[in-house]
Amino acid sequence: MQIFHTISELRAWRKTAGSVAFVPTMGNLHAGHMALIREARQRAEHVVVSIFVNRLQFGQGEDFDRYPRTLQQDAALIAAECDSAVVFAPDERELYPHVIQQYKVEPPALQDELCGAFRPGHFRGVATVVLKLFNIVQPDFACFGKKDYQQLFIIQSMVEELNLPLEIVPVDTGRAEDGLALSSRNGYLTVEERNEAPRLHFHLSRMKKAILNGERDYARLAAETVMDLKVRGWSEVDYVETRNAHTLKPATHTDHELVILIAARLGHTRLIDNVEFTV
Ligand code: PAJ
Repeated sequence: MQIFHTISELRAWRKTAGSVAFVPTMGNLHAGHMALIREARQRAEHVVVSIFVNRLQFGQGEDFDRYPRTLQQDAALIAAECDSAVVFAPDERELYPHVIQQYKVEPPALQDELCGAFRPGHFRGVATVVLKLFNIVQPDFACFGKKDYQQLFIIQSMVEELNLPLEIVPVDTGRAEDGLALSSRNGYLTVEERNEAPRLHFHLSRMKKAILNGERDYARLAAETVMDLKVRGWSEVDYVETRNAHTLKPATHTDHELVILIAARLGHTRLIDNVEFTV
């Protein structure tokens, strides 16, 4: 496994390489990321994994400073999964040499909904760094997790609308045995919070089941979830929404492909999850 810290090293390697499947990450890798790397292996001759905690997508008061940075451990995990992988781990000055990134990607109005309503500028920061990484790595494929459903949607539409020459590969959400979606942020949870966290997945399953049984009052189902989480001591429920899985517009009663998305805070930790299904 090779690790490059500079754009010029990566570019020099890229000139000689065949097809590339790319997995962008912020590191602190877990089994969810590993599933992306396994998918990438199937797609192309080479796998590139980037590790970069992108300041641009964190808001004021968010966890940029305390986000876990575990490069050694991540490199060992990647080597064990895919020994021929290339890791791209630039520092901030390499990716943002002018300190302030002046040109930014402006995603459409969806950037201000769902997670975007609670994290202003987040998706602008994500789209900007992902476009930069695509321009550096020049992949044929890029794997993104469905766990971050809105992120996947925004990146997919950016690739389509800006005619970027690569294919986005969505990968199913990796979960712990109790249903909790794997996330680097799970490491912030106390033991009690970790025991409580699968409640999100429980409610997604409950709402999905109700809708499959004919329930169409999405607002009522969401209100039940919010009520229960509040009673159980969750500090905030940012949103619980049922949307069209293909457009991410609020679901109507004639939609068949649905996604229920949820974001809530347990103590100081913000968790997100979703479930996609057909009625
Ligand atoms: P990060 O949170 O490290 O996630 C990197 C990739 O792993 C994303 O595509 C994310 O959806 C996927 N992922 C995370 N947890 C997952 C799980 N439990 N199952 C399946 N996939 C999972 O998302 C980012 O970093 C950043 O926003 C990034 C795209 C790298 C831009 O900075």
